[in-house]
Amino acid sequence: MSSTDGTPGSPRPEGSESRSGAENEGGGPPTPEGAARPPRSKARAYKDFDWNTMDRIGQAAAFDAIGDRYDEAFPHKEGQIASGAWLAEQLPAGSHILDLGCGTGLPTARQLVEAGHQVTGIDLSPGMVKLAEANVPDAEFRRMDIYEVERYELGPFDGVAAYFSLLMLPRAEIPYALRMLHQQLREGAPMAMSMVEADVDDFTLPFLGNTIRVSGYLRDELRQVVHEGGFEIAGEDAYAYAPASTDVPPEIQLFLQCRRRP
Ligand SMILES: C[S@@+](CC[C@H](N)C(=O)[O-])C[C@H]1O[C@@H](n2cnc3c(N)ncnc32)[C@H](O)[C@@H]1O
Repeated sequence: MSSTDGTPGSPRPEGSESRSGAENEGGGPPTPEGAARPPRSKARAYKDFDWNTMDRIGQAAAFDAIGDRYDEAFPHKEGQIASGAWLAEQLPAGSHILDLGCGTGLPTARQLVEAGHQVTGIDLSPGMVKLAEANVPDAEFRRMDIYEVERYELGPFDGVAAYFSLLMLPRAEIPYALRMLHQQLREGAPMAMSMVEADVDDFTLPFLGNTIRVSGYLRDELRQVVHEGGFEIAGEDAYAYAPASTDVPPEIQLFLQCRRRP
């Protein structure tokens, strides 16, 4: 069910699968009566999260409107493809990989499927999920918010790809999301992730004719946040990236090759 009827600042995330009732047990914000209730999850990475701070208003709608223009605006993804190749090589064929905030499924879900893996992609935007399903029919996609992965017990996974998706969260939430991913993986499992290097928190950004909110870190702080989230950083690459679109500024993209710590 969609909760796009929420008002700015509402704790109800936009376009997410949701549960009913006021009780949430650390599993999510209260949602209207009558909504589907997901199964209870044993994992509780978001247990102490302050749901009153959660505001997804506009995030899914922006990506619905952007659609496959996203791939046109970001055409050369050498860094992401190299990172995806690293992830694919860490695991035996048939491994189950979560593509967090999968977007159109390109290039990552397709690359991982072509490498012989089983991919589950989740994304808040129904439009993105639809594109991903068309682009990568051999993967499974769910319209889902990042925080819902543990609630719906999608895992455990053998690996995670999180390319430019954690940056869609406010900084206060990113450690919770990382701990959630930590709980979805076994010790030593690989996680490939990317962020844009920027010292911003829930920053409003004009993006391909829409407005989104993004967060970022300078690289030392990013390393620290990822480490504290339960991952060691096995490798790192930085790319200067000039998108094809004129309203998206040039950026430094940071790709981290991580492993789940004990
Ligand atoms: C910058 S795009 C990156 C897409 C893809 N990972 C890639 O690298 O091409 C961010 C994606 O995250 C999705 N997203 C934003 N907020 C999300 C959330 N809270 N939960 C799940 N997906 C989210 C957006 O809909 C969008 O598809």
